[in-house]
Amino acid sequence: MEPRGLDWSLSEFERVLQRAVGLVVERYGTLDTAPVFAQVTPPEVEAWFREPVPEAPMPIDALLDTVKVTVLDTATLNIGPHMYAYVMAGGTHVSVLAELFAAAIDQNGGKWHLGPALSALEERVIQWGGSFIGFAPEAGGALVSGGSAANLTALTVARNLQLGDAVAREGLFSGPPATLYGSTEVHGCIEKCVELLGLGTRHYRRIPVDAAHRIRLDLLGAQIEADRAAGLRPFCVIGNAGTVNTGAIDPLDSLADLAARHHLWFHVDGAYGGMAAAVEACRPKFRGLESANSVALDFHKWLYQPFEAGCALFRDWEGLHRTYHHAAAYLATDQGGDGRRDLNEYSFQLSRNFKALKVWMTFKAYGAARLRQAIASDIANAAYLADRLRSAEDFELVHEPELSIVCFRYLGSAGHLHGTEPIDRLNRALIPALEADGRVFITGTTVAGRPVIRACCINHRQHQGDIDRLVTTIRDVGRALEAK
Ligand SMILES: Cc1ncc(COP(=O)(O)O)c(C=O)c1O
Repeated sequence: MEPRGLDWSLSEFERVLQRAVGLVVERYGTLDTAPVFAQVTPPEVEAWFREPVPEAPMPIDALLDTVKVTVLDTATLNIGPHMYAYVMAGGTHVSVLAELFAAAIDQNGGKWHLGPALSALEERVIQWGGSFIGFAPEAGGALVSGGSAANLTALTVARNLQLGDAVAREGLFSGPPATLYGSTEVHGCIEKCVELLGLGTRHYRRIPVDAAHRIRLDLLGAQIEADRAAGLRPFCVIGNAGTVNTGAIDPLDSLADLAARHHLWFHVDGAYGGMAAAVEACRPKFRGLESANSVALDFHKWLYQPFEAGCALFRDWEGLHRTYHHAAAYLATDQGGDGRRDLNEYSFQLSRNFKALKVWMTFKAYGAARLRQAIASDIANAAYLADRLRSAEDFELVHEPELSIVCFRYLGSAGHLHGTEPIDRLNRALIPALEADGRVFITGTTVAGRPVIRACCINHRQHQGDIDRLVTTIRDVGRALEAK
């Protein structure tokens, strides 16, 4: 076949692909030894790429050399076992293959006939996601960019279904302010959703939490009743299935009951923790999840997918269709009602990529049992870290880990620092110092108003030896800071 357009010959394409594969394998060979953060600065990185739009072509081998040095070798190693920051799961080998295939065939999942396998696989992995975590086995849903988009997708449906079809026509001006409820530990993306949906952050009730960082049901019930008495329109309660700060899980069964009693939509943000409901030993913690109207999941978190792969789950497809379907002449096709589901009618996006392939190939290649084991192993690593910190004089465990997040403080060598201020100062200073050290990548947060170091163990390549290295590194860097 003669090359067309911008293509190379097939043999050249194959040669270049093989070189690219070599670079990928080479990078995977450095996971244990390379610094997790490449110690580069913004001006340095900016300078590598500073040039006007290139007019002349660059030979592909030279381009691959450049990509290796500037992109692959400097990548922050969340694929490696020494990443603890944020919620960074690190991908799987089989997903790398899936991403290659997905780019190679370039399907557009907006319409069934543009990607028959894509459309079927997206429905399949949505149903698998639902049954894996014990939600509705016949779930409807949408694959989206991540947890933020999954929450936005769900809250849009919640708003439209709960407030009625007038919302689409009149906006929110057809009635009194609509209120929604979540704990003070709810992820920051919900506030963005509230703004985007025009609800007004003033009408988003942040309910205080108990000592275990779980929503206070008594305060929640009282707030809903007060809002109703004031003539407002309560419409949705959000439950956490694993907060980003500490991994706390709200009492989902009580929230489900309360939502039903008040005729509210019950949404669960399971972007970080929801997949852990697949682990038998964890299931009781998530009781009530099965009663939610919608669940936000992130396959790029605890299903170990490379970015991006979020998932909004619903009990069926109906609410999504009512919210997102808009007829357009250029999309109308009539293939005789043979059961085609055009995914653009069930999500905000028209054009959409093939996220389902990596999720499907991951379930198929490893099997659900092995994935559950990987999640359980992350939880065991967090428990091991908590044990080590609990028994160390120079560390303070800030909470018992609910899932795989552990927050703690370094107390100075042999725990000699006293008073909250010097300890807080040292822990704040530790975060940039650990980044500069490069052996591990970890960040901090604030719990109950005080700074903490926060480890999120969510990487199937991590084992207990890595946790030991984490503790040793923090101790080394902490002591060096104290000595300054
Ligand atoms: C509980 C929770 N919700 C939502 C999000 C946002 O997800 P994303 O970063 O994929 O948009 C996160 C991210 O960490 C999260 O932990």
